[in-house]
Amino acid sequence: MKKKTLKLTSSKVFVLGGIYSNTEALKTFLKIIKKPKFKNIPIINTGDIFAYFSEPNKSIDLVRQNKFISIMGNCEESIAFDANDCGCGFKKNSACDLLTDQWFPYSKKNISAKNKGWLKKLPYEIILKYKSKKYLVCHGSPRKINEFVLPSTSKNVISRLLNNFDGVIAGHSGIPFTRYLKKGFWHNSGAIGLPPNDGSKKAWYSIIDFNKNIIEHKSFTYDHLTTFKKMMKIKLNIHYAKTLKSGYWPSTDIFKKYDLKILKSAIPNEGLILK
Ligand SMILES: [Fe+2]
Repeated sequence: MKKKTLKLTSSKVFVLGGIYSNTEALKTFLKIIKKPKFKNIPIINTGDIFAYFSEPNKSIDLVRQNKFISIMGNCEESIAFDANDCGCGFKKNSACDLLTDQWFPYSKKNISAKNKGWLKKLPYEIILKYKSKKYLVCHGSPRKINEFVLPSTSKNVISRLLNNFDGVIAGHSGIPFTRYLKKGFWHNSGAIGLPPNDGSKKAWYSIIDFNKNIIEHKSFTYDHLTTFKKMMKIKLNIHYAKTLKSGYWPSTDIFKKYDLKILKSAIPNEGLILK
């Protein structure tokens, strides 16, 4: 497993994940962070650059052009190493399984050889070092690329996963949340490309200030109707296209063992600062 260590010179980082081929959401995020006050703040990308929507290759291009510090998500791994599905951990014949049948071959066909080569070289984990602290960036969890760590995940499990890190920055689950334990924090910025199944049309990212030990969850709206129209034009994943309007996922069966009400109540208000 390829790992990378990065010594941070900036006390702050942006965190985003789950772009899911949604370039309208990504472009709006890029506009927000291009403000002069955010100059020189690194952008950490927790993976799943492409998935459900219509522009997988363009999404990778934008991530590369804007020098996001990226790790391998299950979507990147599946395309890079020619798997037969996205490897998100769904059960056979679940809604996820059936919906993947549409977007996975489409992404496979539309990602250039050059970008596929870039995906292959992505590290699975990055250790961020800031002063005497160490933070781990991973996709699902440090033990499994497609593990869903959620607000309902027990304190004991999260504590074990934190290991000796001062914080873990993860992606995959698409739910923005932060848990502070005695030994460190678990943080998920949520997804840029899909709302967190809360009936909204919001995209989520975050800003971490390591100096002040503050994590700020941020959200924004964008031109989701253009993403919707592009999907309808090529008749791809109509169920996911509808999510952009309804704010609810078509594939929650993977979460059956979790309480979706807990997920919803855990979503922070925009700009809420957690310590
Ligand atoms: Fe994922």
